[in-house]
Amino acid sequence: MISTQLLDASSSRDIARAKQILQRGGLVAVPTETVYGLAANAMDPAAVKSIFAAKGRPSDHPLIVHIAGPDNLRDWAVDIPPVAYQLAASFWPGPLTMLLHKSPRVPAEVTAGRETIGLRVPANPVLLALLKDLKFGVAAPSANPYKRLSPTSAAQVFAQMSGRIDAVLDGGDCEVGLESTILDLTGPELRILRAGPITASAINQCTGLAVSQPQQHDIAVPGNVAEHYRPNTPLYLGTRAQIEVASKAKGRCIACLFYAEDANAPDAAQTVIMPKSKVLYAQRLYKTLYSLDSLGLDAIWLEYPPTDEQWRDVNDRLARAAAIP
Ligand code: TXA
Ligand code: MG
Repeated sequence: MISTQLLDASSSRDIARAKQILQRGGLVAVPTETVYGLAANAMDPAAVKSIFAAKGRPSDHPLIVHIAGPDNLRDWAVDIPPVAYQLAASFWPGPLTMLLHKSPRVPAEVTAGRETIGLRVPANPVLLALLKDLKFGVAAPSANPYKRLSPTSAAQVFAQMSGRIDAVLDGGDCEVGLESTILDLTGPELRILRAGPITASAINQCTGLAVSQPQQHDIAVPGNVAEHYRPNTPLYLGTRAQIEVASKAKGRCIACLFYAEDANAPDAAQTVIMPKSKVLYAQRLYKTLYSLDSLGLDAIWLEYPPTDEQWRDVNDRLARAAAIP
């Protein structure tokens, strides 16, 4: 067991401490605008290996490398198409991960032996400043144990990962709340491998190119397994009518999450009315599921949110988080 330090992102002393831990090959959970990431020096194979150990993540699941800016792309990737710079100019810093051909100098551990590498410039100002200061990029998966909910606050990381990592840098709650869009630029056409806040339409508008979005569970994204992002309490998706029925089941103690306006809240242990705006909904989703999960209830029922394009990432994560009734 390691004793995990809780560092404050508003203290320059604590940021210097985080930097020092990373330089020495340690693990620091860092805030990004999407979710907290578990960071290590991406050029240090031993440090990268310890990320997998801390998360209990299979070693064939590649990691995303976080870099300071598009100027650093050449340090990590080769054969970079011009469209990568066009996308970087529009969406970086921000929740877009670009899959490119890996440079031979990147340790195989980072990409789990693959010839491609996921790269992104995160928008969190503290992490971005840290990356500009460091001489290396950081590999960082979401800072949760394998298959569990991604953390959107330092407290959540601490609760799940304390004792397994050197430090958590507390930079407050994540603004976006859902993981980045993963876009594959290595094939004949642009392909979204993981739905995220940057939609296919936004990428098409920026580049003028067609963007395909194949069915999820694509093996090209090993972490794209069907069961993922799971709370411990069984989570069910349903219509309001189905939730009404579930709330009346004898002896069951459930929580209900409604999409926007309250109708007649059923007799549940907890009822949460989620925001109507997609941005706010996404920001709160994991946090809400995480806090309901701690109540030890029989089930969490969640009302289906809208299904239009901007909600695709929310629906994608919910489909993986939900159990079959
Ligand atoms: O928003 C995010 O992307 C967050 C923050 C911390 O940046 N990171 C994140 O990382 O969600 P992770 O490891 O939890 O999810 C990244 C996904 C995994 O499913 C992984 O298999 C896939 O990206 N991935 C990474 N590199 C890849 C590669 N070279 N080829 C295919 N899939 C890759
Ligand atoms: Mg993850």
